[in-house]
Amino acid sequence: MDLVRTENLKVRFPLRGRAPFAPKKYVEAVNDVSIAIPRGQTYGLVGESGCGKSTLANALLGLQKPTSGHVYFDGQCLDTADRETFRALRRRMQMVFQDPFSALNPRFTVEKILQEPMKIRGGMTESEMRERVLDLLGMVGLSGEDLPRYPTDFSGGQRQRICIARAIALRPDFLVCDEPVSALDVSVHAQILNLLMDLQEQSGMTYLFISHNLAVVRDICADVGVMYLGMLMETGPADAVFSNPLHPYTRFLLSAVLDMNPESSRQPMLLKGEIPSPIDLPQGCAFCTRCPCATEQCRTVRPLLTEAESGHFAACHLLKKQEQG
Ligand SMILES: Nc1ncnc2c1ncn2[C@@H]1O[C@H](COP(=O)(O)OP(=O)(O)O)[C@@H](O)[C@H]1O
Ligand SMILES: [Mg+2]
Repeated sequence: MDLVRTENLKVRFPLRGRAPFAPKKYVEAVNDVSIAIPRGQTYGLVGESGCGKSTLANALLGLQKPTSGHVYFDGQCLDTADRETFRALRRRMQMVFQDPFSALNPRFTVEKILQEPMKIRGGMTESEMRERVLDLLGMVGLSGEDLPRYPTDFSGGQRQRICIARAIALRPDFLVCDEPVSALDVSVHAQILNLLMDLQEQSGMTYLFISHNLAVVRDICADVGVMYLGMLMETGPADAVFSNPLHPYTRFLLSAVLDMNPESSRQPMLLKGEIPSPIDLPQGCAFCTRCPCATEQCRTVRPLLTEAESGHFAACHLLKKQEQG
């Protein structure tokens, strides 16, 4: 069964600072998104900055109330749960943030940082906590000698290890990793990703892995979802999405990745047009203003996610044309 699931999830933010009698406007940060993350697997969420990835993650964690639609965790509806149920579910989820520099209190030692979640939950003796902290440090590749040190004594990669240790301190079932390597040196990306994969193998945790870089999610995710302006444009098994990208936007993201390889003979796909603002979305396909293949239908009718091959969905009118043609 899926551990985490959304059903037609929408989150919108009212725009502030408008004239008192002007019509209200909204940012459609997450627009009708349904995803499912099977237990013990990694779902990769990709898309350009501002497309709603973090807002979707916050809704999954119960930190952001949906405007409409629902979030289910382990079969229970999070957004309608009573306070007690919510808190019990919430305790099973954790998050690793993008910036390990601002995520750690600079005045706390590593020991205090890692003990804090246990102290807040309660029910452990000092020696049990000490033992767990040492275990955690070992799990993330640090040692007992690091206990009295402060965050500023560590490199970015090491700080992210501390953040990961803190996130898994209470053995969560679900871990959201929101761009966990974006702020780090490229040289440590692989180490941190491998650490996350090892921890998942040992514990069976379920991950939502957010990145704006498709290359990063490629190796580590079972399924991926591609977001654009709050909407899911394509989703499916990572193998299928990477070997047979169906949506022109996914192809664009992939060509941007290939672009980094100087030996690639493929021409990168160039995008014309501007990203529309998430306030005034185009009437038809959200991507139509930049899509090299957009037709009149794309500009007027919003395409629905359609299953093209087993478990592989895309929201693109041209998909049907390809099948028919
Ligand atoms: N608390 C908020 N209030 C108003 N607008 C917000 C808020 N959080 C996010 N947004 C807007 O919602 C959209 C999606 O943001 P976000 O989820 O942070 O995107 P991403 O994580 O993909 O970069 C953006 O246009 C952003 O400006
Ligand atoms: Mg974000």
